[in-house]
Formats: sequence, C-alpha cells, structure tokens
Amino acid sequence: MAYFDLTGQTAIVTGAATGIGEAIARRLSGAGATVAIADLNFDAAAATAATIERAFPVQVDVTDSASVDRAVAMVLAKTGQIDVLVNNAGIAGTAGPLTDQTNEAWQKTIDVNMNGVFFCCRAVAAHMKGRQYGRIVNIASIAGKEGNPMMTGYSATKAAVIGFTKAIGKEFATDGICVNAVSPAVIRTKILDQLPEAQIKYMTDKIPMRRTGTTEEIAAVVHFLASPDCSFVTAQCYDASGGRATY
Ligand SMILES: NC(=O)c1ccc[n+]([C@@H]2O[C@H](COP(=O)([O-])OP(=O)(O)OC[C@H]3O[C@@H](n4cnc5c(N)ncnc54)[C@H](O)[C@@H]3O)[C@@H](O)[C@H]2O)c1
Repeated sequence: MAYFDLTGQTAIVTGAATGIGEAIARRLSGAGATVAIADLNFDAAAATAATIERAFPVQVDVTDSASVDRAVAMVLAKTGQIDVLVNNAGIAGTAGPLTDQTNEAWQKTIDVNMNGVFFCCRAVAAHMKGRQYGRIVNIASIAGKEGNPMMTGYSATKAAVIGFTKAIGKEFATDGICVNAVSPAVIRTKILDQLPEAQIKYMTDKIPMRRTGTTEEIAAVVHFLASPDCSFVTAQCYDASGGRATY
C-alpha cells in the first residue's frame, strides 16, 4: 500500500521553477500527481517542468489577481480538477534597518508573500468547495513566528501567512479542505542571494542542528499535508527548522 498517494490528482505549486517549490513539485509528482509548475519566470518553469513527470509550466504573477485567476482557469481547462495548491512563491525583500526600508520594497514584499497567498487561495476555493476536497499548503517561515531583525517586512508577511492559514483552515473545516502552513528555517536556495552573508549566518546560528535544511526536507513535510492522509490536520503551522522553533 502506498502512503500519501496522489495518483490521479492535480497540484499547483507556485514559485516551482526553482528552490523549495521545485523540490515540492518533484516530490508530489513522485507520488503520482500531475503538477502545474506555476511561476513568474515562464522559461524557467518550462525548463523545470521538462524534467518532472506529468508536469507542465504555467505563467503566473501571484501579485496580480487577474493573472492568478487566468492560471487557475488554465490548469482547470487542462486537467479538470485541482486537488492541491501549494503557495510557495515568495521573496526575502530588502534586508536592512527599518529606517532604510522604502515604501516600494515594503509593499512589494506584501504583494508577493501575503497578497499572493490570498489571491491563489481565493481562486481555488469555489472549485475545492464544489468537490468537497482540497489540500492547501502555505509556505511561511520561522521568521513569521520569531521575527528576524533586519527582515521586518519578510517577518511580518510570513506571520500574516500563518494567521491567514489558521483562519481559512477553520473557515473551510467542514468543506473537506485542509489548510496548513510550513515554516522552514534557512534552506540553501537562490532566495539567499537576496540577503547579506551576515544575515544568513545570524539565521543559521540560531538552528540547534547547526546546519541549513534541504529543499527535499521541506518537500517531505509538504507531501503529507498535501495528501489525503492529512485528513484531521488543518489550520496548523508545521515547523521544519532543525529545532529552532520553540512553540
Ligand atoms: N530558502 C529559505 O531559507 C526559506 C526559509 C523559509 C521560508 N522560505 C520560503 O519558501 C518559499 C520558496 O523559497 P525559495 O528559497 O525556494 O525561493 P527562490 O527564490 O529560490 O524561488 C522562488 C520562486 O518564486 C518565484 N516567484 C517570485 N515572485 C513571484 C511572483 N510574483 N509570482 C510567481 N512566482 C514568483 C521565482 O521566480 C522563483 O522561481 C518562499 O515563500 C520563501 O519565503 C524560504
């Protein structure tokens, strides 16, 4: 018997052209799912999709609700169903003192990390409710629970993702839809290129396991939450932080 089996299911993974999203897409495909590699960078999404079984690329800008609605309609036209949505697209924003934060950088972080999750969840909600089945996994961050100095916008938006997850998890609780968040600590991906080395060291030093996590380690947690086996778990935040989280 295969556990966490996703045969015949369709998953959308945002920001899946690279990094954590790519690993999640690979893992869900490995469990049998057809996977929409939904990313701002279509060429990168297409290149990644070409290396994953049953995957196809979709261009989406999660900051634009019309773009999100179009992407969801495109996936539905192609596969007829959406069983899983993984809201993974995110940016680190500009690291630095609060007084140096510009309105534009602050707003951009909110647009991608917070509005993007809202737009994507709203876009699949009616479909999932209609089928009385859905699994939504929102990628938050340990920064949203503990706060990382010099990353105020990022920490605030990731805390918002956790609060939002708890709220819609409860709202959809009798609709067959489970909604959970995952909070990784530092994972070696391109997102770290947006941060100074001292910031990365600060975050890694706080991890009791004394190492960064891997994208596959996050994908493993997401896999359970995206599967039918996750049936009595909703509105929760799962930490994948090498022991950093204390609550
Ligand atoms: N890497 C870490 O240390 C870490 C830790 C905690 C949480 N996270 C979270 O995990 C998620 C993935 O991070 P990653 O490290 O793989 O990042 P990454 O930068 O490697 O990849 C992010 C992907 O999102 C896409 N993207 C960016 N803006 C988009 C938009 N507006 N619309 C659609 N796609 C967009 C990018 O094109 C890219 O493919 C993010 O939400 C991030 O905040 C990462």
